[in-house]
Amino acid sequence: MNLSTDVLTLVEQLREQLNAHNHHYYVLDDPSVTDSHYDSLFAELQALEEKYPQLQSPQSPTQRVGGAVLSAFDSVKHVVPMLSLANAFGLSELQAFEKRLHDRLKTVDPINFSCEPKLDGLAVSLRYENGVFKQAATRGDGATGEDVTENCRTIKSIPLKLRGENIPQVLEVRGEVFMPLEGFKNLNAKALATEGKVFANPRNAAAGSLRQLDSNVTAKRPLDMHCYGIGEVSQMIAKNHTDLISKLTSFGLKTSPEIKIAKTIKDCEAYYQDLLARRHELGYEIDGVVIKVNDFVIQKALGFVSRAPRWAIAYKFPAAEETTMILGVDFQVGRTGALTPVARLKPVFVGGVTLSNATLHNMDEIARKDVRIGDIVIVRRAGDVIPEVVRPVIEKRPDNAELIIAPRVCPICDSDVEQVEGVAALRCTGGLYCRAQRKEAIKHFASRKALDVEGLGDKLVEQLVDEGLISNVADLFSLSLEQLSRLERMAEKSAQNLLDSLRKAKLTTLNRFVFSLGIREVGEASALNLAQHFGGLTKIMQASEEDLLAVPDIGPVAALHLQHFFKQTHNQEIIEALLAAGIHWPEIEVASNDSAVFGKIFVITGTLSELSRDQAKQKLQSLGAKVAGSVSKKTDFLVAGEVAGSKLAKAKALGVNVLNEKEFLVLLD
Ligand code: IVH
Repeated sequence: MNLSTDVLTLVEQLREQLNAHNHHYYVLDDPSVTDSHYDSLFAELQALEEKYPQLQSPQSPTQRVGGAVLSAFDSVKHVVPMLSLANAFGLSELQAFEKRLHDRLKTVDPINFSCEPKLDGLAVSLRYENGVFKQAATRGDGATGEDVTENCRTIKSIPLKLRGENIPQVLEVRGEVFMPLEGFKNLNAKALATEGKVFANPRNAAAGSLRQLDSNVTAKRPLDMHCYGIGEVSQMIAKNHTDLISKLTSFGLKTSPEIKIAKTIKDCEAYYQDLLARRHELGYEIDGVVIKVNDFVIQKALGFVSRAPRWAIAYKFPAAEETTMILGVDFQVGRTGALTPVARLKPVFVGGVTLSNATLHNMDEIARKDVRIGDIVIVRRAGDVIPEVVRPVIEKRPDNAELIIAPRVCPICDSDVEQVEGVAALRCTGGLYCRAQRKEAIKHFASRKALDVEGLGDKLVEQLVDEGLISNVADLFSLSLEQLSRLERMAEKSAQNLLDSLRKAKLTTLNRFVFSLGIREVGEASALNLAQHFGGLTKIMQASEEDLLAVPDIGPVAALHLQHFFKQTHNQEIIEALLAAGIHWPEIEVASNDSAVFGKIFVITGTLSELSRDQAKQKLQSLGAKVAGSVSKKTDFLVAGEVAGSKLAKAKALGVNVLNEKEFLVLLD
């Protein structure tokens, strides 16, 4: 083929198609073609560009894989400086922000705000000329940054060409480059396995990945970007911030799905509280929310002070890292015998609570971080995640800091400790002989997702085992009122309540029962799959490895643990004793695949009136459907009750089928 207009048109068409597919996949999170179709278009374009080198272009979708290695970054002057933000900690500082606005504007008229997540990554400015990506720069000191164009080219959610109408001739878009948590975890897991660089947090990983002289490395890093503002523009494109964000979205740029307008500071506070509660569901780290005056005319009137705008504030989440001293290390024995080193800390207030313990994960992590007893360490508490020791402050290490040594015998039962090859974990070999493992097994049995024995908390289980009243889960059902009332801090009324809840817990479901046994690698979901697949306990207990492997989500390891568990005589005896004590469950129908919801993935959001979300979940699962926690492109149906929030918005954006409660009930019928 000669370089004819036909070739030119074909190349243009291929680039346009690939750009559109990229936009669907990386920006909208909603793939429009199969991977293999995408790959074949990509290969076709690549072949043409190779054959006709004069057609190569930095804007081509083939140019996202990294290029030549640089010796240093060029510097880039920001025509419009990249500013920082003033911080507010707590409601009163937020209220003070509003008061400053009113004072400055000499009015008490209500002000509209835009609320958005404060991403924990690094600020980047993207320059587009005539809609074509020309340059990317880091913030640097705000006036001058580093040229990271080649690296940003590899970030798939950054369009190399803008789409849509009325794109200004010059448009500098600003936003945060960050690393989503899943990508961060995978990257570190890979690094651990190959002795590569392990990053302390997603922010460092994002910064380290973007400031790579070799863009081929950046290309392999899972980076993403949300745009939240503009720098230099040849022509203004919006009257207020939220319209600007909509415009940027229409140009094919990725923006936060969480941006909302707030009409009062009270609404801003509610937005903050909501995000604080949901921050762990977002899939990326945020360290607060940014509140911006929405109207550009008012923004202009307010102006700047030092290097931050007066019209915006970063309302930060409570600090989640502190330093303190390691006083000692205990090894805690878990339900399956795994020994976890836990640092005993000089008590320290972190992110709203006082910590006196933090996990050190395992011996490999201790060695990697080089943590010692006596060290001053940074501890971190991230929401509901277990508090952890991040790293020691080496400069402050005392001379008498002691190495942490792995125990050879279990600190509870003196049984030998084994280290399974290839796995960092140490394990007590005592099994149910070990009092710690027994206690944990009983706690698990009584827990909410297992038999849900109300009133039987962790402390009480420990007390019962320590007093010698029970030594396994079946013993719970022969406890007497007299025995319980004799316990310290146990009134007769609470003793009676406990007996009542034990009686109530006897009626359960097969899946809960299987889960409650605490078999290794058999979680809530696997237990449900087992129950649905086999329909009865005896069948599960007698299943061969081959039978077990036929169950969704059961792999060879879980199959091995299941067989091992049911083969042991003492486990069989405990199960018999439990059944003899009256534990029972309704017969279950093995889910048949002719139900309309069989195999479909549901997400439930908002409040339902006819049944609770839990009941809806159980009903769906019993019909062979899956219930997920968040909406993604894989979701088949979103069931939206009253006051459905961002999940509904996301489902709509992704084109997921949305059912109201009535439609949902019809479907179930
Ligand atoms: S606006 C003129 N919006 O926070 C206003 N910044 O502490 C400039 N950041 O350098 C920034 N999320 O790296 C803005 N939604 C957001 C943000 C955000 C994160 C970062 C940004 C900035 C730093 C200031």
